[in-house]
Amino acid sequence: MRTEVTRILLISGSTRDGSTNTAALRTIAAVAPPSVRADLYSGLRELPAFVPGDDPAGYPAVTALRADLAAADAVLICTPEYAGTLPGSIKNLLDWTVGTADLYEKPTAWLTVAVPGRGGGAEATLSTVLGYVGAEVVESACTRLPVLGADVGDDGLVGSTEFRAGARRVLAELLAHVARAA
Ligand SMILES: Cc1cc2nc3c(=O)[nH]c(=O)nc-3n(C[C@H](O)[C@H](O)[C@H](O)COP(=O)(O)O)c2cc1C
Repeated sequence: MRTEVTRILLISGSTRDGSTNTAALRTIAAVAPPSVRADLYSGLRELPAFVPGDDPAGYPAVTALRADLAAADAVLICTPEYAGTLPGSIKNLLDWTVGTADLYEKPTAWLTVAVPGRGGGAEATLSTVLGYVGAEVVESACTRLPVLGADVGDDGLVGSTEFRAGARRVLAELLAHVARAA
């Protein structure tokens, strides 16, 4: 039986203070069972623009990202849509992983917090890029759980029981996938 803690890296595609996407991931970390260590990635604003051919080791923020990804059993991405696709900042993060294959075969899922009918362009691009980098997309964990700004409390968390139940289901799917693969 698998007894160790499963580490999930939570990556928000929003750089905005008060982000609904980041609040959703913060809430996922808050409801995670003891068997899960869910860490919210905090380096998106510090990542330099991707430079093809440059050694990632020359950039501390990139080295830190690579270490976070290497330590993770699974990755959960929650990103807004900008101009019909991914925000440039998270595409930039993903570009840094191409040459070093940091996401190759990494169980990865996404959570969409946009209301139905919105955010499809970001999901489609994410699906394309994750396919390109060879991530193992955990389809059963890819979910839409809408979050509005008003749903985020003063504590920075999403309080609704419906969201929290969905968040637990996402974690359970990721956990089950990692356990099956072990
Ligand atoms: C520059 C910009 C472009 C946007 N483009 C889209 C878009 O194409 N489609 C969409 O559904 N929402 C779009 N939005 C709305 C954001 O996705 C929405 O505000 C989201 O809640 C932001 O996420 P956050 O709260 O985590 O920062 C855009 C917002 C900004 C700032």
